[in-house]
Amino acid sequence: KLMKIFVTRRIPPEGMKILSAAGVCEVSLWDSDEPVPRSELLKGVQGAHGLLCLLSDKIDAEVLDAAGPNLKVISTLSVGFDHLAIDEIKKRGIRVGYTPDVLTDATAELTVALLLATARRLPEGVEEVKNGGWSSWKPLWLCGYGLSGSTSVSGLCLCSGLAIAKRLLPFGVKRLLYSGRTAKSHAAEVNGEFVPLDTLVSDSDFIVVSCSLTPETQGLCNKAFFSKMKNTAVFINTSRGAVVNQEDLYEALSSGQIAAAGLDVTTPEPLPTNHPLVTLKNCVVLPHIGSATYSTRGIMSDLAARNLLGGLQHRDMPSELTL
Ligand code: GLV
Ligand code: GLV
Repeated sequence: KLMKIFVTRRIPPEGMKILSAAGVCEVSLWDSDEPVPRSELLKGVQGAHGLLCLLSDKIDAEVLDAAGPNLKVISTLSVGFDHLAIDEIKKRGIRVGYTPDVLTDATAELTVALLLATARRLPEGVEEVKNGGWSSWKPLWLCGYGLSGSTSVSGLCLCSGLAIAKRLLPFGVKRLLYSGRTAKSHAAEVNGEFVPLDTLVSDSDFIVVSCSLTPETQGLCNKAFFSKMKNTAVFINTSRGAVVNQEDLYEALSSGQIAAAGLDVTTPEPLPTNHPLVTLKNCVVLPHIGSATYSTRGIMSDLAARNLLGGLQHRDMPSELTL
């Protein structure tokens, strides 16, 4: 008898092909590029043995109860798993797959792109060309901050912190600082200096947040954090929006407490078009596109499907989340 799978969105074809070729499951798909409404999610998971979901789907006790006792495996098309109620999932003996590593390069590239775009004011420049604000070459116009000779930082980093650091070094960054619970041996590859968070915040010209969202990092970048930053420093976040207190960030950006911010992640997502942060010239907001290259999304789709099948068939999963 075929096992039932619910897929919460259209995903790249790589994963769908693997699921149908396996011949062990009957796939039902929320066949749209838009998120599945909560009521449809609760309906779709009923009786499912496997769930393939995205970071925009909140998988909590209500969803798990709606799915019922068949549910063996949840596979998320993401490296982050803060949208999954892990305690509830573990309590029910459900296995979890995710997609670490395969998106590290793409996300590190996007992080560097956002850092440069923010520090060198690219969106403002593009806007001025379009709106006629470009009247002449002006010595004092659209000046920003450069990486060469600066102290740069991967704040509280995971593996992506190292990938970002490697890409920043060739720009002539003098020191790379990082913080977190423990020093990491791989930081030696980039001469990363392990420092207390306060030192990292006060000494850095660029702060890059690349940590995962946990109770420990929730709201970490708040008023006290921004008040310790240099007035010339640039703040970049490509991890999760909730690591930042956005009211405090708005205050720091509008008062000149810090120079600029580049965010690929926000709370909520999408961020409303009239949100105060969107109105600021010194804040560059991207729509969570860290992993968005064609090839990376294809590989994520492939991995998510193989994780799902591994879980359904009581085999090893290529990337199982073990906590
Ligand atoms: C992206 O943010 C992911 O978690 O995959
Ligand atoms: C260095 O930046 C690291 O990832 O530890």
